[in-house]
Amino acid sequence: MNRKLGYEQVPSARSNGAEIPSLHEAYANDFPIGAAVSPAVLESAGPLIARHYNSLTAENHMKPIELQPEEGVYTFEMADRIANFAKEHGMRLRGHTLVWHNQTPDWMFEGKDGRPADRELLLSRMKSHIDTVVGRYRGDIYCWDVVNEAIQDKEGGLLRQSRWLELAGEDYIQKAFEYAHAADPDALLFYNDYHETVPAKREKMYKLVKELLDRGTPIHGIGLQAHWNIYEPSIEDIRITIERFASLGLQLHITELDLPMFSNDDKRTDLKKPSEEMIDQQKVRYEEIFKLFRSYKDVLTNVTFWGAADDYTWLDYFPGKERKTWPFLFNDQHEPKPCFWGVV
Ligand code: GLA
Repeated sequence: MNRKLGYEQVPSARSNGAEIPSLHEAYANDFPIGAAVSPAVLESAGPLIARHYNSLTAENHMKPIELQPEEGVYTFEMADRIANFAKEHGMRLRGHTLVWHNQTPDWMFEGKDGRPADRELLLSRMKSHIDTVVGRYRGDIYCWDVVNEAIQDKEGGLLRQSRWLELAGEDYIQKAFEYAHAADPDALLFYNDYHETVPAKREKMYKLVKELLDRGTPIHGIGLQAHWNIYEPSIEDIRITIERFASLGLQLHITELDLPMFSNDDKRTDLKKPSEEMIDQQKVRYEEIFKLFRSYKDVLTNVTFWGAADDYTWLDYFPGKERKTWPFLFNDQHEPKPCFWGVV
């Protein structure tokens, strides 16, 4: 019987693993394929992750608020579980993230007298956080997102208004890279941001990184978050972005890839399953995007998804748009979707 396969109808011969190629093995000559995970996801999707991915990122558990909730009190247990899983399975580990305006504890920015911390205090806290965290995972984490999302999206100034900028001054970014390099001279250090293909933002990212390089900052790569969708951005915009950033002579990592099945202005929350068009469009897009990535494998040295399978993604909990979004290559049952076959 020759019937078209529906989204959830993957033949069982394939589901038992026998005929399903490993995703990362399919890209063995190109780049590692990563997934962002938590210890809970490693519990629920461990076999899938061990088989199809060969790089991990902690979705949340290496962020400042998780690792140092109180000054000098470090909590590494959850992060260690992720690091241990990577080690057990011979996977790479990307560090995410050291300096960010979000998910960073308030105490970091507070002075002893309840007033805002001064530059000296804030930078000394930044240094001891980086020393401790990067030092702990030295040899295990091969690259760090040192600074995350420091650029302002709006027209106008280059840098985002944040407590880092306000209290420490513009060179806080350079300092973060210097401290990270001192803590682990072998780690590759990345600047990571989103909306990287939007021309104005792209040029700001280029400018920031170029200035860092001109000042001799130890930076080795740019992280393109790639929170895209099945319609946007265009392949041409992605290509232009890769070319532009690669012209700085740095490595590029795709750090947080997901392709939800909704366009930006599609606010529907009542869809129980994706339409055939959405499924096809996702397959076409993933295919085109990975074909493009492959053609840049000399500069593109890691491609990481911001999740592992459709049963868990941060996108499904996006405030105001709580709904299933089906952004990955594997469905809720951890079976390959049509887009998986497009990619391998
Ligand atoms: C940004 C951050 C990630 C994550 C996502 C949303 O992209 O870099 O760490 O918080 O937002 O999950």
